[in-house]
Amino acid sequence: MNLNILLCLVLVATISCNPIVEAGGQDWWQTAVFYQIYPRSFKDSDNNGIGDLQGIISKLDHLKDAGVTATWLSPIYKSPGVDQGYDISDYRDIDPIFGTLEDFKQLLAKAKELGIKVILDYVPNHTSDEHEWFKKSLENDNEYNDYFIWAEGRNNNTEPPNNWVSHFKGPAWTFRKERGLWYLNKFAPQQPDLNYRNPKVVQAMKDVLNFWMDLGVDGFRVDTIPDLFEVEDLRDEPRSDDASATPNDYEYLSHIYTQDLDETYDMVYQWRELLDEHQKTNGGDTRVLMTEVYSDFEKNIKYYGLPDGSRRGAHFSFNFELIVKVNEGSSSMDILTIIDRWVDNLPEIYTPNWVLGNHDQHRYPSRLGPENRDSFMMLQSMLPGVQVTYNGEEIGMEDGQVSCDEGADPQAIKNCSIFDAVSRDFERTPFQWDESVNAGFNDGGRTWLPVSDKYLENNLKKQKEGVRSYYNTFKSLIDIRKELTLKVPTKTALLKESVMAISRPINDCRAYHFLYNRHGDTKEVDIPYGLDDSKYTVVASKLTSQHIIGDEVSQQIKLDPNDSLIVRETC
Ligand code: GLC
Repeated sequence: MNLNILLCLVLVATISCNPIVEAGGQDWWQTAVFYQIYPRSFKDSDNNGIGDLQGIISKLDHLKDAGVTATWLSPIYKSPGVDQGYDISDYRDIDPIFGTLEDFKQLLAKAKELGIKVILDYVPNHTSDEHEWFKKSLENDNEYNDYFIWAEGRNNNTEPPNNWVSHFKGPAWTFRKERGLWYLNKFAPQQPDLNYRNPKVVQAMKDVLNFWMDLGVDGFRVDTIPDLFEVEDLRDEPRSDDASATPNDYEYLSHIYTQDLDETYDMVYQWRELLDEHQKTNGGDTRVLMTEVYSDFEKNIKYYGLPDGSRRGAHFSFNFELIVKVNEGSSSMDILTIIDRWVDNLPEIYTPNWVLGNHDQHRYPSRLGPENRDSFMMLQSMLPGVQVTYNGEEIGMEDGQVSCDEGADPQAIKNCSIFDAVSRDFERTPFQWDESVNAGFNDGGRTWLPVSDKYLENNLKKQKEGVRSYYNTFKSLIDIRKELTLKVPTKTALLKESVMAISRPINDCRAYHFLYNRHGDTKEVDIPYGLDDSKYTVVASKLTSQHIIGDEVSQQIKLDPNDSLIVRETC
């Protein structure tokens, strides 16, 4: 009998047996590692304190060395920079702080040479208030007056049109005397929301996608997609059940009229058609669409498309559960429950994905404890489907130290009393390349955010030189992942209460097993799903583990508290 079936039958208790069957062959993106570059903080080639395209070009070899095959760049378009580029004043040009369109073409060419796909951030929900469209809308220009959501206020136009709250706190409306009306801004006032009920907006934003695909980009990460549409009659939203929220907080309301509307899903499906069409007409590999969604599972998977396959949407919609549901206190059981939920419930035609961090969330070594960083690095790499890595995670970078007066995040700098709680600057400090001045981010000029004071002990150069280092672990995990195609089942088990196990049996004679003794005393466990006469070799382990790469271990294995490792089983 096949090893998988046999073991599924034997080990039913705490174990989930759920092979993920891929739909129609495995495409380049389906098990790729997407590496997110935050351009401001990656590499500053002209020493002006802000990272740039020439800096990225000079470091593409690093991506190659790490084994990464696709990179997603946070916004590089023209922008006043209020929300660090997520406020765009020209969708078709590069901001001078990052370089020129020529630099971008050079970046694309070099990436292509190295076999690295390039994904751009697509920010459809809002522009900058300095975008031509908004300026003309403000002037009530016939062509543009309906490009944004304008409305009359309440109480003789003295108060916002309704009770909606911005993600960045306070009313989601700003009054402009030029038009005598209020406009919707779900983020900063300098980020007016576009009106997708206007077909001209829909077309103009589709043209943006075509513009970049014509230049050769391989896909898009779609920013804050759930916000795209809101109900037309602008009715008030009801109070949420978050008792601790105050009326100024986004969490105060239940966002049933401003998020995840049917029209929003439809627009994603339309963009997917456009991407597929572009590939059909121009040839080349799949242009990939990935959506940024923090909504619950049921709403999130609708961004993938309709379950009967009649309409397709994002190739994958970010799975942020390891960010929002896992914390330092989470047990092995808690984490396995979160994993099983995705693995068991995602329809087979879709590809799962796993994210541990990004530029909006504290870095996971800081969130989950620096002593656990390599365990989570291994965990992520053993999960099926796409892995998304935020720059710096490959060396286990922690959050930097930023004070309110050094900060730049628009949702935090206006109010220093909430800076530590809400600022996203901590996870955006410059990349730590080496031990030279400013961690090698630039040649010693000022930096837009301070360089973390941890850079001497943690930088890429040092980790490359180390025998056991996070970077070396990251690289060996990428090699292992190459074998873990979507056809390889994912099986989880909880052993002796504290040890989580994730097994990926490749065939009857070869498997990988991840074991992590989280929050437990020393435990001796049997590697699950193994055969009697198998050989077990350690292929990755926690830097402090007594189990070293290359060690042969028996099926019964001892794990110290918090120890973790991956073994390869062969027979
Ligand atoms: C997304 C981005 C975030 C930005 C927001 C508004 O959530 O990731 O950085 O502030 O959208 O564009």
